[in-house]
Amino acid sequence: MVSSVPLTRAGAFFLAAFSLALGSAASRAETTKPADPKPVKEEGGRYYDVDGAPTYNIKPDGQVDWLTYSGYRRYHAECHVCHGPDGMGSTYAPALAESLKTMNFDQFSEVVVGGRQNLGGGNDRVMPSFGLNKNVMCYLDDLYVYLRARSDDALGRVRPAKRDDKSKEITDAEKACLGE
Ligand code: HEC
Repeated sequence: MVSSVPLTRAGAFFLAAFSLALGSAASRAETTKPADPKPVKEEGGRYYDVDGAPTYNIKPDGQVDWLTYSGYRRYHAECHVCHGPDGMGSTYAPALAESLKTMNFDQFSEVVVGGRQNLGGGNDRVMPSFGLNKNVMCYLDDLYVYLRARSDDALGRVRPAKRDDKSKEITDAEKACLGE
């Protein structure tokens, strides 16, 4: 494809229709309530629910698993400018502590990877696509787990005070993902 050649009308129409279809398909997507957050499996310091989705593990004394803690930090580095502190939302972007009550891990990942644009009705709010951002992609589980804990009120609007150590498995996976 040569980009200096002007698009034909048909080409332009196709592109517009394609991006509209993408936008409306994503914003109309049905969401599904996640399974019971209770972990049924632990693997190298990561916890999974009955569906195999990442979940949190918070001990009665408030000590959180590593991913919950890491997700707290990543969320406040990458997402809170739009979604507000502690997943509480802002005038620009929805409260993810609410969204995750009815969003499973796959649906969450799809929006974060691909982004979403709410077109029409004078509403031009944009959820950027993070698919190429390693500081987000390498921590998708962490972000989901933290927000899931917030959505269940298993974690308050606080920086987790006590946390598990970071496991060797998590450290290795992180290095591999970041390409270190
Ligand atoms: C530049 C602002 C901005 C940033 C940064 C941002 N978002 Fe968003 N996000 C939005 C907007 C705006 C929407 C709503 C889009 C729409 O209505 O179509 C949204 C929607 C979402 C949704 C869907 C929520 C729902 O109720 O359907 C998820 C999930 C989400 N964002 C996750 C994240 C995560 C995780 C991060 C950090 C890695 C992040 N966002 C960073 C602006 C942002």
